[in-house]
Amino acid sequence: CGIVAYVGHREACPLVIKGLKRLEYRGYDSAGVALLNGDGLKVYKKKGKVSALEHELSGRTLHAKIGMGHTRWATHGEPNDVNAHPHYSFHRKLAIIHNGIIENYAAIKENLLRKGHTFASETDTEVLGQFIEDIWENQGGTLEEAVRLALQEVVGAYAIVIMTEDDPTQLIAARKGSPLVIGIGEGEFFCASDATPIIEYTKDVVYLNDYEIAVIKDGALRIVTLDNTTTTPYVHKVELELEAIEKGGFDHFMLKEIFEQPRSIADSMRGRVNADEGHLQLGGLRDYLDKLAASKRIVIVGCGTSWHAGLVAEYIFEELARIPVEVEYASEFRYRNPIISEGDIVIAISQSGETADTLAAIELAKSKGATIFGVCNVVGSSIARATHAGAYTHAGPEIGVASTKAFTAQVTVLTLMALAAAQRKGVIADSLLRQLLAELESIPAKVEKVLQAAEKIKEIAYIFTYARNFIYLGRGLNFPVALEGALKLKEISYIHAEGYPAAEMKHGPIALIDEDMPVVVIATKDSSYEKVVSNIQEVKARKGRVIAITTEGDTQLPDMVDFTIEIPKVHEILMPLVSVVPLQLLAYDIAVMRGRNVDQPRNLAKSVTVE
Ligand code: G6P
Repeated sequence: CGIVAYVGHREACPLVIKGLKRLEYRGYDSAGVALLNGDGLKVYKKKGKVSALEHELSGRTLHAKIGMGHTRWATHGEPNDVNAHPHYSFHRKLAIIHNGIIENYAAIKENLLRKGHTFASETDTEVLGQFIEDIWENQGGTLEEAVRLALQEVVGAYAIVIMTEDDPTQLIAARKGSPLVIGIGEGEFFCASDATPIIEYTKDVVYLNDYEIAVIKDGALRIVTLDNTTTTPYVHKVELELEAIEKGGFDHFMLKEIFEQPRSIADSMRGRVNADEGHLQLGGLRDYLDKLAASKRIVIVGCGTSWHAGLVAEYIFEELARIPVEVEYASEFRYRNPIISEGDIVIAISQSGETADTLAAIELAKSKGATIFGVCNVVGSSIARATHAGAYTHAGPEIGVASTKAFTAQVTVLTLMALAAAQRKGVIADSLLRQLLAELESIPAKVEKVLQAAEKIKEIAYIFTYARNFIYLGRGLNFPVALEGALKLKEISYIHAEGYPAAEMKHGPIALIDEDMPVVVIATKDSSYEKVVSNIQEVKARKGRVIAITTEGDTQLPDMVDFTIEIPKVHEILMPLVSVVPLQLLAYDIAVMRGRNVDQPRNLAKSVTVE
């Protein structure tokens, strides 16, 4: 879901619509705008894409110098026109947009109902808007005070922006647990859920902190906390370039991001690795390296693709640094009273740096005395700020909802962390360290080579476009890759797919195998190659159709399976960085052939700031 708001000298409506389009990648199911001019405060909203809203607005004259817009991903109430944001308050004095969840909305609503309020929608947002207006009307103070008092009562997560009928210079924004950025231009201000809609106009931004309220009024910005202390905003310069968030000639952001991997992997190592000197450094971990090396246990938390990167890291850390690792879904970890002691290191992995469950897991681990490292892609994100130390992935903005280049960058950075820990602990031979660093430096060229097989992968995708199920198998470090390959396919093509450790197949999924079942097997030449070959035979004996990811020069598998996709020879430890790439392409091609909306798959969001 996304927020955009503007006040200044430009036409607000086209600017807000354009901003919403820039946020489309975050995923949503309805969109709306509020505009204020001589005709009063007007709200327009529509189920579906921003283009549907635009269509709704076309032909109207909507001149306004202040406005706000929202794309909604349904939490309370189904996606439809009425539940879309903005919402009017009861007496229509204000309009509100909101990301997040108000957990105690039912109790607040109950009170308002008793006072005779009625509600147009089923949303928690409308309840909050009415609650603020009610306080404003009954206490007679300023709107800012009413917002503050209301938010003191609210339990949950929010980023909100409010506009009122009586002040065409005023926007009030507030944040707790859901990101909000304020852009400061010449005589104009912007609010947005991330910097992408703003950077076209100004590079000066303020990241609102939790429990802060931004009051933009009469051309000035003031920030107060919920307990009414005025704070001095810290103005950041964003480095993001507009070109970096546009498609650059590719049909979809996802494809662009898959093809960017040789560069993004290199960027994630830039300045950190010197293979010739056997030297590596991670600036953000410098002061914590001893602690990492001395740790008795590492717990990795994340969600979705980031969790898969964590599973890869488990193998690498245990193998190289000999530190026991547990990998947990952030959402499970946080609700099960985990055992954390002071020497424990928790590594939180998150592309967006905003995932609500991951953030909550961090806070929990912190409260139990763990040291928290972050592996985030978005600089300045909530998770990056909540951790003690960390290393950014530097993959550049990832717009496609299905994560690709963020995954390979996460695995690269986690590998560097494991190597740094192993080196500091003195458990890795210098020769192996140098070898792995040199191998790492060769990964971008190897990924480039896999990308050259794109046409062949497309042909295979064509054959399986209408498959109804898929199984993905791998062993060792390629097991998480199998999970990731299956996730990619389900996310964007809506084909049911399961990833399994190849050997586990015989304990269940083998029952599914018949001539209609495509099985993707990652069968690269590594220590489990022979075993994987046996698993392939088990599939073939049941007439399953096998697509194997093989190592260049493998002459055995092409005779045994239906299709092969070759990848270059890679050190086993670094295999996932290369073996995942053909799976990303396969999922992409199948989704395109099925006519799916690849960059914005249904029901998914890029940044899940609700629990
Ligand atoms: C969402 C996205 C996934 C992503 C997951 C975790 O579900 O659709 O692609 O892997 O969130 O996001 P994070 O930003 O924490 O890596």
